[in-house]
This record gives sequence, C-alpha cells and structure tokens, in this order.
Amino acid sequence: MSMAMKKEIPGNASLPTSLLHEYSLHRAVVAAFDQYDGAIKSDVRVPRLSDIVHDTDDEFWEQNLHKFPPSYRTRNTMVRMERILPLPKVVRKALIAHFYPQDTAPLDSATLSNILNAAPNKHCLVRTYLGRKNGGFTRQTFSLRNFPLYLEPMQHLGLDVMGLAASMGKAFAIMHWGAGVNGDDVEFVLGTSAVKGQGDEAFGFQHRAVGFYLLDFGQCDLVDLSDDVDVVYQAFKGAMVTGDNQLFIPHFEKSREMFAAFREGYIGAGQTILEEKKLEKKFNVEDFMREYEEYAEDFL
Ligand SMILES: Nc1ncnc2c1ncn2[C@@H]1O[C@H](COP(=O)(O)OP(=O)(O)O)[C@@H](O)[C@H]1O
Ligand SMILES: [Mg+2]
Repeated sequence: MSMAMKKEIPGNASLPTSLLHEYSLHRAVVAAFDQYDGAIKSDVRVPRLSDIVHDTDDEFWEQNLHKFPPSYRTRNTMVRMERILPLPKVVRKALIAHFYPQDTAPLDSATLSNILNAAPNKHCLVRTYLGRKNGGFTRQTFSLRNFPLYLEPMQHLGLDVMGLAASMGKAFAIMHWGAGVNGDDVEFVLGTSAVKGQGDEAFGFQHRAVGFYLLDFGQCDLVDLSDDVDVVYQAFKGAMVTGDNQLFIPHFEKSREMFAAFREGYIGAGQTILEEKKLEKKFNVEDFMREYEEYAEDFL
C-alpha cells in the first residue's frame, strides 16, 4: 500500500482542528465504514489509516527528520494513511484536451505534454461537484490537482451521476449515524487504487481500479447521538450547507432527480444503521431529510 502523509501545520496542534482531532474522527469514519458498508454498499472508500506519529516520538524523528523536505523538517504530529493513487494518464490527457481553455489558441501537442508532465498535475484526483452546473478555467490557473468536475461536463462525459449521488448520500449517512461525525468540509474524489493483477506484473504493469473516495476530516466535528434530536439534526444539516459541501451535494431543487438519488441513498443507509444501533425510534432520517431541504431552501 502506498502511503500519504499529513503533517500538522506548525501552531495548529493547540487548535480544535488539530491533526490529532482529525485522526480520531478519520478513525471513527473508517470504523463506521468497516462496520456498516458491507450491508450498505456505498461504493465509497475512505483511505485506511496507518498510524500517527507524535511530536514527542523521539526515536522516529531522530531516524526520519532528515528525510523530509527542508520546509517540513519540524517535529509535528504526522498521520500516515493509504494514498489514493491518481487517475491514469489517458484520463489526465482527456481532461486537458476537454477543459484547457482553447478560445484564444488551440491546444498544441507541446503544451499538452508540458501540462501532462508538470509534477503537480501528476497527482490528479477529480472532485465530483454534482452541486454546481459548471465552472470556468483559465490557462494561468489550470491544474489537474484536485480537478473540479462540474455536473454538466460529468453528464457530457457519460459519468454515472445518479450513482455518484446515491453513493454520496450513503457516505453522509455512514458518517452521520455510523460515526457521529458531521461531515463538515469533506471531499469526494475520483482516484485509483492498485488491484491484484491478472498475471502480467512481470512486465511492470500495474492494474488500477478507479474508485470514489471520501477524505479530509480536518474541519469535522463529533456529534453526540445521545443529545436531543433537534441538536443532532441541527449539527448535521448545518454541516451539509457549509464549506464546500454544497458543491458536492446535488441541489435539492435544481437537480431534483439527482437529489432524490442522494436522498434515497441517505435514507436507506441511515435506517439500516439506526436499526442496528436501536436508535430508529429516536431518530427519523426521512424527517431529517425533510428538515435539510427546508433548511437548504432558507439558507441557499
Ligand atoms: N490519502 C490521500 N491520498 C492521496 N491524496 C490525498 C490524500 N489525502 C489528501 N490528499 C490530497 O491532499 C490534499 C490536501 O489534503 P487534505 O486532507 O484535504 O488537507 P487539508 O486539510 O489541508 O485540506 C487533498 O485535497 C488531496 O488532493
Ligand atoms: Mg482538504
């Protein structure tokens, strides 16, 4: 498994959004997916956590600090997790050909290969912004890193947006009811992972499968499901309308059909979990979704 490292920004450790806090929420989300996704089948993956290194882990830092790039050479909390691998080159090429602005001049092959080979562009994950119809690009800021893919282009490319919407609904329900995590400012991306090959590893091929990933729990908060129903609903719906979440969640009114897929995914998954937790009499996910729609209507 290839590893990604997330290191505390200096000064952040004493804040409520510390990496230690994020690690504990990430762990709760992974545990909830492990426990419930077998039945729910969200088709969403959460990067597996490997471990956390503390600033006080002298042995680790003595052996490893010199390996970090100079600007990262401080002893801070660090989390190691599964690395989501980038989308394959053919997809990266297609993204450039489709989306690099060509109104002033056509895309020549030198420019294409410059963009394709620029180091930051190799780490290409695609954010699935089902909540916004479209967005523009400029030549100056064009980047494949965390590439924003909006609804209309996704439909033109023939992506299964209904499936993605249902998956996101299920993932939110697992975060909320399974992990008690509000889901504030999380990210949904398309990336790849290595899969066990069909026998031609000897030729150096790596088999990759495209997957839908949920990441970044840095702005999330824990919600105590033993609190009053109103308090819990408020915490969850509040997080759904803040940050970038509205870019991801289908618009309840402008994209009714897609929102229905999100809603159904959410409700089915939520009910499954609440029944398992014997909380189905206390909470009603259909009521919650109705409340969310009303809230979103006022808020947006
Ligand atoms: N496990 C991972 N595998 C691959 N890329 C990742 C992983 N975690 C984060 N990233 C990339 O790094 C970026 C920043 O990480 P993130 O956790 O979102 O940090 P921040 O809290 O600073 O937003 C993400 O938007 C994503 O592109
Ligand atoms: Mg982020």
